[in-house]
Amino acid sequence: APENLEALKKEAALRAVALVQSGQRVGLGTGSTAKYAIEELGRKIAAGELSGVVGVSTSEASEALARAVGISTEPLDPRPLDIAIDGADEIAPNLDLVKGLGGALVREKVTEAQARRLIIIADHTKLVTRLGEKAPLPIEILQFGFLSTVERLREFLPGGRLRMNGARNYVTDNGNFIFDAQLPEGFDARELERRIKGTLGVVDTGLFLGMAERAFVAAPGGVQELVR
Ligand code: A5P
Repeated sequence: APENLEALKKEAALRAVALVQSGQRVGLGTGSTAKYAIEELGRKIAAGELSGVVGVSTSEASEALARAVGISTEPLDPRPLDIAIDGADEIAPNLDLVKGLGGALVREKVTEAQARRLIIIADHTKLVTRLGEKAPLPIEILQFGFLSTVERLREFLPGGRLRMNGARNYVTDNGNFIFDAQLPEGFDARELERRIKGTLGVVDTGLFLGMAERAFVAAPGGVQELVR
């Protein structure tokens, strides 16, 4: 049978949602895989399999979907989230991640930094041996002075480009732009994260280092559970 990535994404999402318990505050990720998790959470709430669950959304799109499937939502506040479920663009063997191809990296990072458990869901095409193998690294930058910020980034990250939405610059939910950087070979992820975040005009990066507790990665042979 031809491989059906959508079925695999959904399978991974169901495994993660099985970890959610009644009464929990749940971080709702963004993207085509997280969408399946939000739908399954809504289904479980509607079916009475879960109660008292509150969602905290990482994007306007996930907020709209959560409401549509009947999940009560609250804005992020300083309390920890019990669990967060989200997709990723690249998953390294140590569960370091690249996220943000869907543009929600900053709200995802701010939200998921407060989660006691961050569970990643993906199909097997997201597994890499080193970050940067397949995906660019999204970096959210201020609109103000963005050309200066891009020049500063290009000093140590040549080859990247500003994300476009048709003829215009892509704009995030936070009103910022995204620079999609090309990761160099053999870089130290923590050092690079420090350097990018130390660059004037940068809001945050799509590197999620040491944050994920586990990942459910679906392949045609079944769902692999990876633990950090
Ligand atoms: C959104 O900004 C991203 O971090 C997504 O989590 C990531 O792009 C994964 O999306 P898919 O599940 O659609 O591949």
